[in-house]
Amino acid sequence: MRIVLGVTGGIAAYKAAHVLRGLRERGHAVRVVPTEAALRFVGAPTWEALSGEPVSTTVFEGVENVEHVRIGHEADLVVVAPATADLLARARAGMADDLLTATLLTATCPVVVAPAMHTEMWFNAATVDNVATLRARGWTVIEPASGRLTGADTGPGRLPEPDDIIQAALAATGRSAAPDSADASTVTPVAPADDSRTDESRADGALSGASVIVSAGGTREPLDPVRFLGNRSSGKQGAALAAAAATAGARVTLIAANVDSDVLASLPAGVDIEHVSTTAELEAACTAHASSADVIVMAAAVSDYRPAAAAQHKMKKTGDDLTIALVENPDILRGLVELRDAGRTRTGQLLVGFAAETGSHDTSAESLAQAKLLRKGCDLLVFNDVSGDRAFGHDDNAVVVYRAGADGAEEVARSEGSKAHVSNDVIAAVAAERSR
Ligand code: C5P
Repeated sequence: MRIVLGVTGGIAAYKAAHVLRGLRERGHAVRVVPTEAALRFVGAPTWEALSGEPVSTTVFEGVENVEHVRIGHEADLVVVAPATADLLARARAGMADDLLTATLLTATCPVVVAPAMHTEMWFNAATVDNVATLRARGWTVIEPASGRLTGADTGPGRLPEPDDIIQAALAATGRSAAPDSADASTVTPVAPADDSRTDESRADGALSGASVIVSAGGTREPLDPVRFLGNRSSGKQGAALAAAAATAGARVTLIAANVDSDVLASLPAGVDIEHVSTTAELEAACTAHASSADVIVMAAAVSDYRPAAAAQHKMKKTGDDLTIALVENPDILRGLVELRDAGRTRTGQLLVGFAAETGSHDTSAESLAQAKLLRKGCDLLVFNDVSGDRAFGHDDNAVVVYRAGADGAEEVARSEGSKAHVSNDVIAAVAAERSR
């Protein structure tokens, strides 16, 4: 691939040299387009030596080749790392006052931007607005990492690690960063039951730049204006998964089916929430995201049936037994698998199902879950044993994650502990599956 690496004037510009080297080691041709300010941090000779290509910051060089148009036209991918608040503002405004912004205006390939700045700048309304607009235009804006910044301050705003930037950038073109991802595909070991920082750091960056949809909670099917058919799902596990995916660097949308506000209050800033209630609403929301999602995790408990008709007015007691006709709901996950298999979704999309099983006298809960994975056609299935009142509403959970292998269901991870801890393990298994 021909990649343009834009570098802007932040202290993290030095890390872009590692991004450049990593891309070159993977066999890509890289043209570095720094801004004037970037050259105050790392000089042109460094970029020229590492890329083997000339470096210029202005549209007034190489005019005979119409460089500012040619560089953008020929690129298969543009990565800007680090991207300052100033670059985000200029790009959003469509300015072309240097070679990098002119290149961004002429590029028709995927654009992946890794912002780095002080926390206050990142959370400033102008920056938030600029990022939202650039994302809405189709750019991938990677969430900055949290940690020590240039001064004594800490918080979100650090440039993610070069390998994470490379992974997110290549993922935007549908390629994996294979040479460096071998260790990501190892089986997640059974982890101790605590929520230590180690969990977070293990998942941190593993889904950088990916778009992740998580459904959570339980659907409700109205019987009349005051009653519904529902289930006992609290949405805690789904919310914890959304939080873990966000920590791992993903852009996350949580589709919340009747999830209490105190559960939603625990979500990190930046997770988008869409509220739904019925299975039909959940299906519409999932399908709307299907074409652009990299990962869809169906953690919601979906009602398999709905009343054939909901009464307009509150149903009255008649003194007789009541029979309610139910019709089957669509299987949303199965529908997503069909869309994916028909090539109508993003390349490499990963679909994750959940199975809450109790087993019976002649069939184990595990074997029901394994059969479900194959029947549904999803890539991963997270099984939790709900016999004896486990899982629902509690803060702890125990799961086994299976993948659909060539010879049937293969166990890839086992985790037990708080829902936050279990979520980190599940998200690590998702990241590993994406790198296979
Ligand atoms: O068949 P079962 O309900 O056990 O399957 C569970 C998985 O399928 C979950 O991921 C759930 O979100 C999803 N599902 C669905 N549509 C349904 C029923 C379940 O997407 N109608």
